[in-house]
Amino acid sequence: MYPDGTEALSDISIRITHGESVAVVGANGAGKSTLLLHLNGFLKPSSGSVRIGDYPLTKETLQEVRRTVGMIFQDPDDQLFMSTIQEDVAFGPFNLGLPRDEVDQRVADALERMGINHLRDKPPFRLSAGEKRRAAIATVLSMTPDIMVLDEPTTGLDPLGRRQIITILREFTHTKIIATHDLDLVLDLCARTIVLHQGRIWADGQTCDIFRDEALLHECHLEKPLSMQGCPVCSAGTPED
Ligand SMILES: Nc1ncnc2c1ncn2[C@@H]1O[C@H](COP(=O)(O)OP(=O)(O)OP(=O)(O)O)[C@@H](O)[C@H]1O
Ligand SMILES: [Mg+2]
Repeated sequence: MYPDGTEALSDISIRITHGESVAVVGANGAGKSTLLLHLNGFLKPSSGSVRIGDYPLTKETLQEVRRTVGMIFQDPDDQLFMSTIQEDVAFGPFNLGLPRDEVDQRVADALERMGINHLRDKPPFRLSAGEKRRAAIATVLSMTPDIMVLDEPTTGLDPLGRRQIITILREFTHTKIIATHDLDLVLDLCARTIVLHQGRIWADGQTCDIFRDEALLHECHLEKPLSMQGCPVCSAGTPED
């Protein structure tokens, strides 16, 4: 429940096990971001509880949970607040108390992997939307989390950037939970999909079963991934002359 009384989620019960790759899909306002924000304590459930590994999420375990769960916010501006990208990417590892060269190494790796090394000395507000998204992901990669939670990771990225993210996420073999409207990415990366509709879990199962269920997709205002749709040009047949 948000402070203004909006009940964004209800009756949510999910268990995600180590190594799973889970998509959270649903129309605008379905509750995806709200659900994700519960996973590292940015929001607290008004009833029920969240457990991460061996820990119930409480005030005492919050720090440990945030070390375990890397969260990439829907809006990169929520993630980038230092005066340069390099400082932003170093912020997390620095706060873990890691030695200087370990921090430098992690920053260099994360910037390299996201292809933004050339932007390291720029302030976040001078970056394009896609560059900001890459930088936001780098701030989480530098923390080497056990669980990655990503809210719309490919929004605003060009096709190559989108591909790079998919490759990086595929290489990340621990648990990942991805809220997205990019259903082709879901097909590529997530064996399991949770469909949210009006704050409730409408379906939770194998991605391929869910995307074949036309009635479910229609009810939840979703469309089949492009790669599962017939090609409009070919299926239209030979154009008449
Ligand atoms: N801070 C807030 N205060 C009050 N209500 C909120 C707040 N943030 C979100 N909501 C409401 O909670 C519901 C779920 O919002 P949420 O952001 O989780 O949706 P979403 O599925 O992530 O949508 P989108 O695809 O647009 O990102 C919506 O009805 C929204 O209006
Ligand atoms: Mg959202």
